[in-house]
Amino acid sequence: MAIIIDEKNKLFHLQSEKTSYILGFLKEDFPVHLYWGNRLEATPDFNQLLIVPYRWPRSFSAVDAITDEGDRVSRDNLPIEFSTFGNSDLRMPCFHARYKDGSTVSRFSYKGHKVYNGKKPLEGLPATYVEDDSEAQSLEITLTDDLTGVSIILQYTVFEKYNAITRSYRCENNGNDRITIERALSATLDFKKCDFDMIQASGAWGRERYAQRAPLMKGDMNVWSARGASSGVHNPFFALVSKDATETNGSAYGFNLVYSGNFIAGATVDPYNATRAYIGINPFNFSWQLEAGKSFQTPEVVMIHSGEGIGEMSRRFHRLYRNRLVTSKYKNEERSALINNWEATYFDFNEDKIVSIAQKAQKGGIKLFVLDDGWFGKRDDDTSSLGDWFVDKAKLPNGIDGLCNKINALGMKFGLWFEPEMISPVSKLYEAHPDWCIHVKDRERTLSRNQLTLDLSRDDVCDYIIESVNAVLDSANIEYVKWDMNRNMSNVGSALLDSEHQGEFYHRYILGLYKVLGAITSAHPNVLFESCSGGGGRFDPGMLYYMPQTWTSDNTDALARLSIQHGTSLCYPYCTMGAHVSVVPNHQVQRVTPFSMRGNVAMPGQFGYELDVTKLNEEDFSQIREQVGFYEKYGSVFHRGDLFRLKNPEDGNITALEFISEDKNTVIVMLYSMQGLANSPVEYINLQGLEKGAVYKKTQNGEMWSADTLMNVGIPFLTDFDYKNKVWIFEKQ
Ligand code: GLA
Repeated sequence: MAIIIDEKNKLFHLQSEKTSYILGFLKEDFPVHLYWGNRLEATPDFNQLLIVPYRWPRSFSAVDAITDEGDRVSRDNLPIEFSTFGNSDLRMPCFHARYKDGSTVSRFSYKGHKVYNGKKPLEGLPATYVEDDSEAQSLEITLTDDLTGVSIILQYTVFEKYNAITRSYRCENNGNDRITIERALSATLDFKKCDFDMIQASGAWGRERYAQRAPLMKGDMNVWSARGASSGVHNPFFALVSKDATETNGSAYGFNLVYSGNFIAGATVDPYNATRAYIGINPFNFSWQLEAGKSFQTPEVVMIHSGEGIGEMSRRFHRLYRNRLVTSKYKNEERSALINNWEATYFDFNEDKIVSIAQKAQKGGIKLFVLDDGWFGKRDDDTSSLGDWFVDKAKLPNGIDGLCNKINALGMKFGLWFEPEMISPVSKLYEAHPDWCIHVKDRERTLSRNQLTLDLSRDDVCDYIIESVNAVLDSANIEYVKWDMNRNMSNVGSALLDSEHQGEFYHRYILGLYKVLGAITSAHPNVLFESCSGGGGRFDPGMLYYMPQTWTSDNTDALARLSIQHGTSLCYPYCTMGAHVSVVPNHQVQRVTPFSMRGNVAMPGQFGYELDVTKLNEEDFSQIREQVGFYEKYGSVFHRGDLFRLKNPEDGNITALEFISEDKNTVIVMLYSMQGLANSPVEYINLQGLEKGAVYKKTQNGEMWSADTLMNVGIPFLTDFDYKNKVWIFEKQ
């Protein structure tokens, strides 16, 4: 049983194979957080946890709790499980609402709870799920504010095997009056200490999700987005790790929001060295009118603790996401290596050119061709036609169908690019519906990449997207879709929302987006969808729920990709990362790296090519067949196996990744160096996670290595040339 309840003391113990999470209620029925960390066995002494070492309130501490012993305490000094404004806890609250009289004081107390096997879906929002009710247990605790009639239903699920806990809540307005929710974070979580480092993944277009690590200090530290998308600037992920935490040791607490819009995620250290972690919808520019009888659901936060280092935290996220976040039928299937024409042609192509690329690619063993931007409306550059999802016959006289048939005749699948959330001011759609874009009446409509964003808070706009994309998908044998989104929102407003509801815009957009994604992906269950946002500008669990992979970055430079993929792997598995080989000099940074380096950097991801194969020299082209063959043979090790980050790009000249297959029999080590060093020393790379006492055969030369040697002595790597890269493959004997 994953949830153990001490009814008498109102203690709730969420126990997984390796972790425990415990909350309880103090006398006055407010929820306190008691523990999260390595698994505790269920013993009767848990009620000791309730004896919180109270700080005697001093000046400036409001007092509104009295213990059984008669001690007067301030909630400001207690670890709170659900924090609100309107009591003596004056830290950043999880929930904040304005009531009819204008006041913002809430007081929620325990009303009841229920436990059930499995996990319920969240209304309108993506979330982790179970395939069998025995995999997880869920707990719902109802708190009510008797004065307003508003209830909060705290929702917890513990995935025993995945060592994951998810949290969210539903706010139900059971009172008589409308309330305005001004802040609805998904969770706050209090730690009784502050000696943590924060790790997060930040960047910008072309350098998304570089891992950052810095110590917490008194005050606030957070990442956030007000861009209308989770964004490539920050990611809705962070971890608090012990000062001594490394990939293999120490304690790590990871938080990741299953949401694709504006978020805030961070931690505050209070005057008494306690830390409040928080994550949820960004309260900036957010408010929600909740009518009597209605409810509001917060997005889910996935919380992973590892007492075995940062690497194990990542692996726990990866296992959960591979198996119980992605819904696509492709989640367990190896996907074909693809070729995409974007960097090969940009907008300048016709049917002959496309077919010639596909023909050559097919000779290299590639089985999927993806036609990128420029096939619709009259789009010869990025200044027009978004929204006009009908084929440009000047470029493709036989239509998408005709081209698709030619690609299929080569024995290849056909994929197509869309950017359905956008509208070009120069388009038929804009002529017909100038008010369908996000805008504020009488104000400038600011362009980004010459385009505006459609207003997905509107049902008519969502319906148009669903109909127009479905019509194209139904018109030909399209087996793959790249769903792009190339700008952030500015000058935000909706023509259909009145003044009281404009604060709901960003969240309504995301709800509209999820509705659209749900409708299109479920109407086409056999299509493989890849999400994209100018590369990795919206790489988050919300998108992965609908689309099992994301184009990781527009930057395909091998060295940049090592860092981008590393930061991404903090919580997202390699099977979710689109990764392609492109030409040199690289189009984003002009760097020249060997074909083998580009191939081996992209190899663990969802692999492909983004170049004009007809222009490759024979030497490079011959490597395509080898790389595709390797990918087809070993892709499942990268995609279904466990990742061990042996050396990270920010640690020095060498990056080393190890993947252990799901059945534990195959081990692949990828070694990369950034710079050659004349007369370089031999570096030894120690492997991790091997079976004690086992012997492994190196498949390339038959050498036998013991697990002990591999993990304690390591394997040699000489970095005498620039961009040296090696792959070692072992089979357990
Ligand atoms: C974005 C994508 C690219 C490409 C272009 C097309 O930048 O990330 O891969 O599809 O759009 O305009």
